[in-house]
Amino acid sequence: MDLFSKIQEATQFLASRGIKDVEVGIVLGTGLGKLADLIQDPISIDYTDIPYFSASTVESHKGKLIFGTLGNKKVLAMQGRLHYYEGYDMKAISFPIRVMKFLGASTLLLSGAAGAMNLEFKKGDLMMITDQVNLLPTNPLIGANDERLGPRFPDMSETYSKNLQEKILSIAGSKKFNLRQGVYVAVQGPMLESAAEYRFLRTIGADAVGMSTAPEVIVAKHSGMNVAAVIVLTDECDPDNLKPIEIDEIMEIAGEAEEKLIELFPEVIDAL
Ligand code: HPA
Repeated sequence: MDLFSKIQEATQFLASRGIKDVEVGIVLGTGLGKLADLIQDPISIDYTDIPYFSASTVESHKGKLIFGTLGNKKVLAMQGRLHYYEGYDMKAISFPIRVMKFLGASTLLLSGAAGAMNLEFKKGDLMMITDQVNLLPTNPLIGANDERLGPRFPDMSETYSKNLQEKILSIAGSKKFNLRQGVYVAVQGPMLESAAEYRFLRTIGADAVGMSTAPEVIVAKHSGMNVAAVIVLTDECDPDNLKPIEIDEIMEIAGEAEEKLIELFPEVIDAL
């Protein structure tokens, strides 16, 4: 079956469960699932129950879609995402984004955890992504293009919406959050980087490094959505002073910073 038909089938399944007229799609990454608890009148569905969705294999990712009202909008949140390092292909990773678009979402907000390579940034800080470098070995648009899903050569001159960035900055400013801004580079993982790799990634212009986000953003842009992302910097990646990174610590820092995201995202959604 072709991708278009699979998206249609998953969309119809979700519509039959009461999920429709979605305005905003949300991706909740590592350690950041709690925002979903704020969604009013939630309808929650496991990925494993949805046609053509893949199961999340990472323990910290719940693998549920949650639909409901957040701020003054209808939102559909992914509580847990899929990663390339789990062995999924790019089309599987980005399939939920396609379905969000078919359900009506015109905006995608993403979160996640990443390492801070810009040494002015500290662990626990939030960073709004201004642009990205995709260093994953492939991307979700490889293969024949279906014009019903988007153009063959999508423009990436404004990958992250300037308008959304301005809104986020102004809301973060009013809350006195020290919101960082920078370029995100996506790598394969699952191993963290060597000191030499952090040094290299810094020289190509990246401020933060993580194992996700870029594929979902590419598909969102292909399908004509406005995109914004705010991530939590969970570790400091100083190649000249590199300490072992504990995943438990990454989760803990993400959990603490989540409180700030929980304040930020609903107001951003209200302001759309
Ligand atoms: N590298 C890659 N991914 C990450 C990191 C990192 O240092 N921290 C959190 N996710």
